[in-house]
Amino acid sequence: MTKKIADWSTTLAGGPILVFGGPYSNLEATLAMRREADRLSIPPHRVICTGDIVAYAAEPAETTALIRDWGCHVIAGNCEEQIGAGAEDCGCGFEEGSACDRLAKGWYPFADRRMTEDDRIWMRELPMLAHFELEGLSYTVLHGGFEQTNRFIFASQSCVIRDELAAAATDVVIAGHAGIPFMARSASSRWFNPGVIGMPANDGSPDVWYGLVTPARGRTTFALKRLAYDHMSAAAAMRRTAHADGYAATLVTGIWPSFDVLPPTEKSATGKRLRQQTMSMSAPIKTSPGPRHAKSQTQRVAAAD
Ligand SMILES: [Fe+2]
Repeated sequence: MTKKIADWSTTLAGGPILVFGGPYSNLEATLAMRREADRLSIPPHRVICTGDIVAYAAEPAETTALIRDWGCHVIAGNCEEQIGAGAEDCGCGFEEGSACDRLAKGWYPFADRRMTEDDRIWMRELPMLAHFELEGLSYTVLHGGFEQTNRFIFASQSCVIRDELAAAATDVVIAGHAGIPFMARSASSRWFNPGVIGMPANDGSPDVWYGLVTPARGRTTFALKRLAYDHMSAAAAMRRTAHADGYAATLVTGIWPSFDVLPPTEKSATGKRLRQQTMSMSAPIKTSPGPRHAKSQTQRVAAAD
């Protein structure tokens, strides 16, 4: 299948860019994210969602309607790919029989039943990748991995990140899917995963995460930001539907119902409060055309540092 790739270069200039992943059918969190964009005076054309609008929480139709009404940039996550295609499972990449896999058998059909045909058409039309250039830096926006939409990539996986940065061959990759915010750097490129807004980051706090990209005087700053929202209402809505009680508890405790997808480093960080942080990058001096490849070992810039 040919990947649908968007070019957003003409629409993202003019100020800070707000980036978030995984609304996950969490209407309360998505409303809070939109209010935060308004508070920061960031218009929809400088807002990026890295996909998975629909997943665990209680209000898939309302959350999809809100994102569509907002009119921000969106790339398809595995959930949009699967629901758009009328597939029978979420395509998250969970191991067969794992706790995540069993939980998905509750929330995916719940969400799928609430999607309209118009929603599915809209999801099918979403790009799977996006590129843009801004203040001398080139960007690729993807969901999980460059080739594999549902690839889980975490901060501790430096070799994986190095290879993914080389495959993307841009200065900055903006990613989603994994659910825990982090930043990593190689000598010539950056990996920026702002986390998700639909579930907490397994750090023992109900807060969720988003990112800000701020180009200024040729030096761009990347920030991981915590977002508090009305998580009690979101959890209450999930308990009323009772389709994914494990995730309803997560909205309150900030601890995931399963650690199946986590590497040992991230698993051992369960319950440890993440910190907001920033990194910056200057535009490179490009001496020859063509893609650049990050050959050096990546350095982790994890939110827990
Ligand atoms: Fe995903």
